[in-house]
Amino acid sequence: MIHNEVLDCIRTRRSTRNFQEQQIKEEELKALLEAAIWAPSGSNSQSWLFTAVQNKEALLKINELLKKGFQHWIPDDDYPGKLGVKAMAQREDCHFFYHAPTLIIASNRPNYENAMADCSLALENIFLAAHSLGLGSCYINQLHWLRNDRELREYLFELGIPKEHTICSSAAIGYIDKESSASPRKDGTIHIIK
Ligand SMILES: Cc1cc2nc3c(=O)[nH]c(=O)nc-3n(C[C@H](O)[C@H](O)[C@H](O)COP(=O)(O)O)c2cc1C
Repeated sequence: MIHNEVLDCIRTRRSTRNFQEQQIKEEELKALLEAAIWAPSGSNSQSWLFTAVQNKEALLKINELLKKGFQHWIPDDDYPGKLGVKAMAQREDCHFFYHAPTLIIASNRPNYENAMADCSLALENIFLAAHSLGLGSCYINQLHWLRNDRELREYLFELGIPKEHTICSSAAIGYIDKESSASPRKDGTIHIIK
């Protein structure tokens, strides 16, 4: 197995679901956002927007709007996470981004075929950069599922996310309170033809 800083960072990054309350440093946030915008994008579009939310009230409000939105949301497929989300949203202690002090929301222009691909590549840059700095991170999907929820979108608009943008994904970021164990990787997912 080849070892170098990048490969080891890729191998040892884990999704964090237990964060400390303490906010990350300004220079750490800037490094993550810079890592995001160095990701590749289709035709070099760079049409994404990364909105970092660090305001406690705003984070609380986003979680409350997610909880509310899922009450009347109808899953559009049988993806396991979607099936359980309504019950989860009803729990008093439900926090979709695990009380992380920073949430980075990746949005992109509408009707752009590579919107998700571009934002996902940027998010992985954020995750790896976070790991390289000793920070925890986790992909948070719920804002994408509720991207058309009127109340949530009105609030995200107040935060500066254009109404017409599609919400692709988001990243919870913070100092790690409890390390996650590695989920084993499945066999048979690599195929080499020579
Ligand atoms: C598209 C996508 C959506 C995800 N959504 C969530 C989510 O909403 N909440 C969450 O806790 N983890 C989410 N994850 C994280 C996965 O559960 C995690 O990557 C997987 O279990 C493997 O663990 P690892 O990241 O520690 O290697 C998501 C990951 C991806 C790629």
